[in-house]
Amino acid sequence: MRIAVAGGTGTVGRYVAAAAARRGHTVVVLSRRDGVDVLGGAGLEAALDGADVVVDVLNRTTLSAREATAFFATTTRHLLAAGARAGVRHHVALSVVGIDGIDASYYAGKLAQERLLAGSARPHTVARATQFHELAAQVAARTTLGRLTAVPRTRCRPVAAAEVAEHLLDVAEADPVGRAPDLVGPREETLAAMVARMAHHDGLHRRVLDVPVPGRYGTGLASGALRGGDGPRREGRTTFEEWLGSPDRAR
Ligand SMILES: NC(=O)c1ccc[n+]([C@@H]2O[C@H](COP(=O)([O-])OP(=O)(O)OC[C@H]3O[C@@H](n4cnc5c(N)ncnc54)[C@H](OP(=O)(O)O)[C@@H]3O)[C@@H](O)[C@H]2O)c1
Repeated sequence: MRIAVAGGTGTVGRYVAAAAARRGHTVVVLSRRDGVDVLGGAGLEAALDGADVVVDVLNRTTLSAREATAFFATTTRHLLAAGARAGVRHHVALSVVGIDGIDASYYAGKLAQERLLAGSARPHTVARATQFHELAAQVAARTTLGRLTAVPRTRCRPVAAAEVAEHLLDVAEADPVGRAPDLVGPREETLAAMVARMAHHDGLHRRVLDVPVPGRYGTGLASGALRGGDGPRREGRTTFEEWLGSPDRAR
């Protein structure tokens, strides 16, 4: 198959592109670095020419509900419209486990993306995953001042981005079903404990604070909803500890 990976240079997108190539697919990466601006539309038509499947792992890191909604809604609309013109047979989008009811901040954008797809006549599948192990480093990079790291209080069930990629490709190779089973990690964690263990593993002296975030978004993070419920799901195998010591981490 010819698979277009929108966001194929990102944290999970790199794994998706590499795994798709390993599975024998022809891979086209859509990112601004590759000359395709999905938000603005530049280069999109040409990039999707001949594509069978689009895997959307685009991202904009923001805590603004307005910005997240504008980004995910606009990029999804553009991918669906260009995909329809190119004859794409399956649009696969990655979303986040447990965000129902957390219609605020970044997750407002993800819910807007899911709603758009649910209301679309285009053949699609939304696949939700829990937080990536990689999130610990991403959060620490943004919230560390000297030796102090302030981590938003979050209960989660992290999963390796490499396993998310394989899950997305299983979904992409199958028929569109609207909604795939959730992919959740093997163990429950708190984000603060993950960041502290990562710092210890890396030999860094850090004081890690577990900080409650006010509002609907913060309540959602702390509530445990992001660990996922009892619905249909698949479980990743790589624990956070295993991931910390794995060569994958250096990528
Ligand atoms: N992080 C988590 O824990 C987690 C958990 C579950 C689900 N997810 C979902 O996974 C998806 C991917 O997240 P990620 O953390 O892997 O993303 P990321 O590392 O931030 O990468 C974002 C990707 O999007 C591309 N991009 C951004 N704006 C673009 C534009 N206008 N046109 C074309 N490409 C653009 C970037 O490439 P350029 O900058 O070169 O354009 C990059 O390839 C998101 O939908 C997120 O909600 C994440």
